[in-house]
Amino acid sequence: MIEVINLKKRFGEKEVLKGVNLTIEDGEDIAILGKSGEGKSVFLKHIIGLLKPDEGSVLVDGIDITKLSKRELYQIRRSFSYVFQGAALFDSLTVFENIALPLRERAFSEREIKDRVKEALSLVDLDGIEELYPAALSGGMKKRVGLARAIVSKPRYLLYDEPTTGLDVITAWRINKLIKKINKMEGTTGILVTHDIRGALYTSDKIALLSDGVIVEIIESSRYKEAKTEKLREFLEAGGFLD
Ligand SMILES: Nc1ncnc2c1ncn2[C@@H]1O[C@H](COP(=O)(O)OP(=O)(O)OP(=O)(O)O)[C@@H](O)[C@H]1O
Ligand SMILES: [Mg+2]
Repeated sequence: MIEVINLKKRFGEKEVLKGVNLTIEDGEDIAILGKSGEGKSVFLKHIIGLLKPDEGSVLVDGIDITKLSKRELYQIRRSFSYVFQGAALFDSLTVFENIALPLRERAFSEREIKDRVKEALSLVDLDGIEELYPAALSGGMKKRVGLARAIVSKPRYLLYDEPTTGLDVITAWRINKLIKKINKMEGTTGILVTHDIRGALYTSDKIALLSDGVIVEIIESSRYKEAKTEKLREFLEAGGFLD
């Protein structure tokens, strides 16, 4: 379980997070919705300790990760996978080696690595491309390889930073379908940050709107019509979900 309590972060004069509060239960899938520049990526980076807050805490199973040393953080991070905005593949490594990276850091046998990479590629419908280099892949394929790398270590928490940005609608939708499939896998908790309301409602049980540095509303995706705040209703309207 992840509990974000009164998280505050500023860069110079700019106060990006002004006291974010959010609880994410195990097995739940949540989308953090927000306009560009609202601090979604900054928020996500705090959840795995890539950024330290000015105030507030992030509890993972009751442990405040903002207070941990690098070494302790490293242990906790093993429960997490982070799908970066942009695919973030290593161009000099094959698809196989890119996906194998999270496993190489741990003591997996060569046999296990092979099996897991194959399984992960199959899950994202890219069987047999192990030996290709990223340069030979389309943008959508790169994103799917990024997803394969995220699931190969079977993490408890999957963090996605705008995984569909820059893709055509069909390819974006395929990625959303994959995210939903991954989120539904046993033992995974998905945290998706996006400005795509349609993808958020489709992939996640809940949506939380981040606006002006705070979470202004959280609703169950299936009950989006009951959204109360003007800001969330505006998002829903823009996506064609409200009349
Ligand atoms: N390392 C940093 N140093 C200074 N300012 C930063 C840093 N990281 C983020 N910011 C600022 O914080 C604000 C929020 O950035 P963030 O990347 O979290 O937005 P976002 O909601 O993810 O936007 P997008 O949808 O475009 O990805 C921006 O104004 C950005 O300039
Ligand atoms: Mg971002």
